[in-house]
Formats: sequence, C-alpha cells, structure tokens
Amino acid sequence: MLGRDASFLEYFRGALWHALWPALTAPDPHVSLRDGMNATTASSARKRIAVIPGDGIGKEVIPEAVKVLKAAAASGGREVALTEFDWGADRYLRDGTTLPADAVEMLRRDFDAILLGAMGDPRVPTNIHAAEILLGLRFKLDLYVNARPCVLFDKRFTPLKDRAEKDVNFMVFRENTEGLYVGMGGNFKRGTADEVAIQEDVNTRKGVERIIRYAFEFARMRGLQRVCMSDKSNALTFGHDLWQRVFKEVRGEYPGIESSHQYIDNLLMQMVRDPAQFQVIVTSNLFGDIASDLGAQLAGGLGLAPSGNIHPGQVSLFEPVHGSAPNIAGKGIANPMGAILTVGMMFEFLGWPAEAQAIDKAVRMALKEGKTAPELGGVLTTREIADWVADSVARSGVVS
Ligand code: NAD
Ligand code: IPM
Ligand code: MN
Repeated sequence: MLGRDASFLEYFRGALWHALWPALTAPDPHVSLRDGMNATTASSARKRIAVIPGDGIGKEVIPEAVKVLKAAAASGGREVALTEFDWGADRYLRDGTTLPADAVEMLRRDFDAILLGAMGDPRVPTNIHAAEILLGLRFKLDLYVNARPCVLFDKRFTPLKDRAEKDVNFMVFRENTEGLYVGMGGNFKRGTADEVAIQEDVNTRKGVERIIRYAFEFARMRGLQRVCMSDKSNALTFGHDLWQRVFKEVRGEYPGIESSHQYIDNLLMQMVRDPAQFQVIVTSNLFGDIASDLGAQLAGGLGLAPSGNIHPGQVSLFEPVHGSAPNIAGKGIANPMGAILTVGMMFEFLGWPAEAQAIDKAVRMALKEGKTAPELGGVLTTREIADWVADSVARSGVVS
C-alpha cells in the first residue's frame, strides 16, 4: 500500500489502475460494515458469473471479452462458471420479457458478478427494455457506486493537444441509484399543445452520503490527495443543496484529503482544459453519465472505457461504458477493449488482482503495437483484437 506522500501518477502508472479495486472487496470498516460486506468474495473459490450480452455491439464485444476472461482465469488457475442470459431487445420483441420477475433474487442467490454488454435497439424506441433491465438491475441490486476510470494508456490516443498519460488519470464516481433516473414523474395532457412533462430529481440523504463517502474512502485507501464533488447547486437549490451540505459534512472526516467543488458546467470544461487536476470526481447520476463519456474520450475513446456498478460485498454488475452503437453493429469493427478491461475490473472486485493485471497489461501491449479497431485508427476486427489479447494473456501468464 502506498503512503500518502507517494505520487499518484507513479502509483497509477506503476501499479496499474486495476490495483485500485481490492478496496472494493477489502474488509474496510468504513465501507464494508456500512454496506453489509459479506464473505461471498473469498478470492479462492469458484466464481459464478452471469453474462448478459444485450443488444447491438454488446453481442459482439461480450463473447470476445469472455475469451479473454477464460484465458486469464485458466492462466491463473481460477475456476469460473459462466451462465448466459438472453435479456435484451430480441427477447423483448419475441415474448415481451424485459427483466424476468425472479431475476434479481436469482442473481443475488446464484451469482458473484454480472458481465453486461449494452442495452438499446432502434426497434424499441421507448427504450423500455433497457430501462427495466439495466436501470432495473442497478436499482434493485442497489448498485450505488458507478465507478468509471478515465485513464489514458497511451498518449497517442487522446484528442487533447500536448497531453501525456499522466494528464488523464482519474476516477469518476457516479451516484447510480437515484437522481433524475428514478423514473418518477409523468405527463399531463400528453400530445396536446398544453402538455406538461415532469421528471423528478430524487436526492436522498442516504444516497448522497454513501457515494460521497465512498469517493473519500477510495481516495484514502489509495493514498490519493484530491476529491472533487460536482453539482449544480447554484440552480438546483433543493436537491443539490443537499449535496453541498453532505459534502461539507463528510469531507470534515477526511482532513488529509484536499476536497474541492466545481459546478458541472465548469467541471466539464476543466476536464478538457486541465484534466491533470483531477484524481477522484464524485457526482450525481446524470452528471456522472455525461462526465464519464467525456472522460472516456479524453482517455482515447468510448470503446476503451470500462465500468463497474458496485455494491461492496454484494453481487455487482460490470459493463463497458459504451452503448449498443447501432451505427456500427453487425460490422465486426467495435472495439472490444472496454469490455475486456471491464472483465479486469470484475476480477479485481472478485479478489483476483493478478488476473486483472494480466488483462490490463495485454491491452496496453495491444495498444502499443497498434492492434486496434478503426475507432483508434487501426484495421483489426473485434475478434482479431480479442484473440490477440487472449493469446497475449495466455503467453505471458498470470503473475501472482
Ligand atoms: P453509444 O455508446 O452506443 O455510441 C456512441 C458512439 O460511439 C457511436 O458513434 C458508436 O459507434 C461509438 N462507439 C461506442 N462504442 C464503441 C466501440 N466499442 N467501438 C467503436 N465505437 C464505439 O451511444 P449512443 O449512440 O448514444 O446510443 C446507442 C444505444 O445504446 C442507445 O439505445 C442508448 O440508449 C444505448 N446505450 C446503452 C448503454 C448501456 O447499456 N450501458 C450505454 C450508452 C448507450
Ligand atoms: C450508461 C448509459 C445508460 C445511462 C442509459 C442506456 C440509460 O448511457 O450506462 O452510461 O444513462 O446510465
Ligand atoms: Mn452513458
């Protein structure tokens, strides 16, 4: 474990960003007791993983990421049991199923983690299946942390001028169970000239506190120096005033960590102007959604970005940040690296950091050697990239 005085950049670059994740399973009193940490993540046992490819390029990148998953597990002598679920647009259009009634209970009971591709299909313009499956799982499994690392692996891939790897290296923690996503509201006089549409922004004391506290705990455990909270409290004077008050209270418990606040409009501008100022960003559901797509591009591209929807100690869901990309679906050119790195995040969560690091290392090598998809200027297909990464993991082996 690094001390507080050790450089963040040295840590991130040297020890790989995946090394962040043991924090999520470690029996830390602040995180684990509060959140009901249990023993389901004992690192030696066989892990049961639910696989939900979903729609569009989700169905292309997930089978490829699973190849890498198997290569890393085999190389590390780990046992995994994979079970695939066909939830998504095809199933919905076939029989009307979105999230089956017993799904949440079954996932909690029978699985350690979930690997998901993406939800979204032009044939379902209401997006109802995505809301019920993806948002449904986030809410019903109470996955309150949406962790989205924005880490530039190779400076050739950032669109920013004169920036290097050290400049884009931060974590976005997005509140994942409330805010504008809860689906409260409705329409009045729908379809008329007098229509009223209301979408409620729900911010609870518990919800705001636990994500802010998680961000500080993460920084503390990783020896990081800075946490920035972002809201729009100058306009949202009730909901985001709560964020202000809770932030001021919680940060008082972490005197060693420099805490700051930026309004979301300024934050997004600052992410482009000077991303090196950020180590940990914590924000609300919608703002985190937006900030993490921007962060993904600063780090090379949406197809490279992994994420975890986490409740420490409970079954959690891992997915690339990107969506189903209907514009490139079926062409075999989607970048699978975000999905592959997502497997790494999942392995860290499951207590297999060496396997995660092997995956991380292989992706870095692929980037270095130009084994990339058109998104990153390369010519390889989704399958060719994953095969290369899986081979590389198998050849280099997992170093415990
Ligand atoms: P998107 O992330 O699917 O695509 C945005 C852009 O990035 C597109 O140009 C796409 O081609 C590109 N892109 C995304 N992933 C890529 C990859 N792996 N390789 C190369 N290029 C990639 O976002 P969108 O177009 O706004 O949404 C499409 C659908 O996906 C919608 O239905 C949306 O609701 C859904 N969506 C789902 C999720 C999710 O399931 N987590 C996330 C975002 C969007
Ligand atoms: C994401 C997606 C989802 C979100 C959509 C598909 C509802 O954009 O996971 O980032 O907004 O959370
Ligand atoms: Mn998004």
